[in-house]
Amino acid sequence: MTARDHRLGLQPATTEYTEKPLRVEGEIPPWLDGTLVRNGPGSFTVGDRRVNHWFDGLAMLRRFRIDDGEVRYTNRFLRSRQFRHVSDHGSLRLREFGTDPKWSGLGHLRRCGTRAATDNASVTVVYLGGRHLAATETPRWTVYDPDTLRTRAPKAFEDSDDEVGRAGPLAHVQYDPFREETVGIATRFGLRSEYLVYRVPDGRERREVVARIPIRQPGYVHSFALTPNYVALLVSPFRTTPLSLLRDRPFVESYRWHPERGTRVFVVGRESGELAVDTRTAPCFVFHHVNAFERDGALHLDVAAFEDASVVDAFSLDAFDSPEFSPPGAELRRLQVDPETGHIVTRTLHPGHVEFPTIHYARHNTRPYRYVYGVGTAERSPNGYVDRIVKIDLDERAGRFQASRTWTEPNVYPGEPLFVPRISPEADEDSAESVAEDDGVLLSVVLDADAERSFLTILDAATMTERARAVFEEPIPFDFHGQFYRSGERPTRSMA
Ligand SMILES: [Fe+2]
Repeated sequence: MTARDHRLGLQPATTEYTEKPLRVEGEIPPWLDGTLVRNGPGSFTVGDRRVNHWFDGLAMLRRFRIDDGEVRYTNRFLRSRQFRHVSDHGSLRLREFGTDPKWSGLGHLRRCGTRAATDNASVTVVYLGGRHLAATETPRWTVYDPDTLRTRAPKAFEDSDDEVGRAGPLAHVQYDPFREETVGIATRFGLRSEYLVYRVPDGRERREVVARIPIRQPGYVHSFALTPNYVALLVSPFRTTPLSLLRDRPFVESYRWHPERGTRVFVVGRESGELAVDTRTAPCFVFHHVNAFERDGALHLDVAAFEDASVVDAFSLDAFDSPEFSPPGAELRRLQVDPETGHIVTRTLHPGHVEFPTIHYARHNTRPYRYVYGVGTAERSPNGYVDRIVKIDLDERAGRFQASRTWTEPNVYPGEPLFVPRISPEADEDSAESVAEDDGVLLSVVLDADAERSFLTILDAATMTERARAVFEEPIPFDFHGQFYRSGERPTRSMA
């Protein structure tokens, strides 16, 4: 029997449900209509063993359809080549983040762009080029049907032989709601490695490379940030070389932590494609950029920063699936970058732990903003897995440390909270601008370990109190990222 703690979030999903009605407690705001689609591992089982790392589980899409106060749940494993091979043969066919088909330790990094790169796209969902895509850190994104969650096409891009398709794109893209274009980054490994910055204007499909950033030893990069004029990218000193990626040895040996090199900060002009800033700052490890904006001639870049890359190993399944699991936490950090001189001033905006950071994306991505939401632990407590949803107020007048609010209950483990504004910025721009930035709800899938089940919580983002929850009768495996799509409109991005 599994203990009643976070480990229930690592149990495999055994059933695929279609439009299963969930029991609703409380009252769902009448304006909240749409679907929350989330992606993440649904099972770690391969034959009679388990994959090595949390990031290696088989992708499972989950959808909560919220309609007229009711919630229905659908889940589907992605029918990737990897999934089919695991089902048919009980073994891996393709190389995952931390597991390779030969089970040699932690395996190769899957984003290296080789032919053996996985199509097990478990990281997030992206709406791009008019299609719904399951995305991962290899070129092999997958088209799915948003109504049934069934896998449609194993190949997401007609032009997957283009430069971006041959490189290793990040799973996270950024959408600029003001310029109505998606921007992405891919790592091209080679004798002269480089980061490719590409864009896809709404209504187009082709990925157009707009900038190149040469890099001798590419670092592991998971996300980046945009401002109206710039693309900003932090590259942690967790570095590799193309040669070491090609060698048959574990991931942890392909990437090494080089704190003496510091963290590289790149700022690229979105129009010119020119490198405006190429400098270094203190070493840190970053999965998630939170947001960026320009003010008084400076670029403000907010990230969830870990002290080092030990968090990568910390999420090996053996460590995660232990009762004493206590991974390192990230803090919210702001880098104020002078685009003229490259001078950087860094400060901590919130000392407690925060990860899976989100914002009022549709109105504030690339712009000044006030609120960050995420999951965290008790302030300054490094113990245990994330057990609360946090809201951080970045208003200078509000002070630095007392401005966060949290929602928690005993023995709960929430996932990424997505903010859904009460009024859609696209529906009525005038009225939307005048409403408060936190006027809306947060949606998060929460493991309730005592009850041995998960629920979708709907929190009032202003007060961080629960408005309603939709209860599922089983634990749902921990997920990574998702999107909320409002009914009757084109897809709205809560976070890209
Ligand atoms: Fe991520």
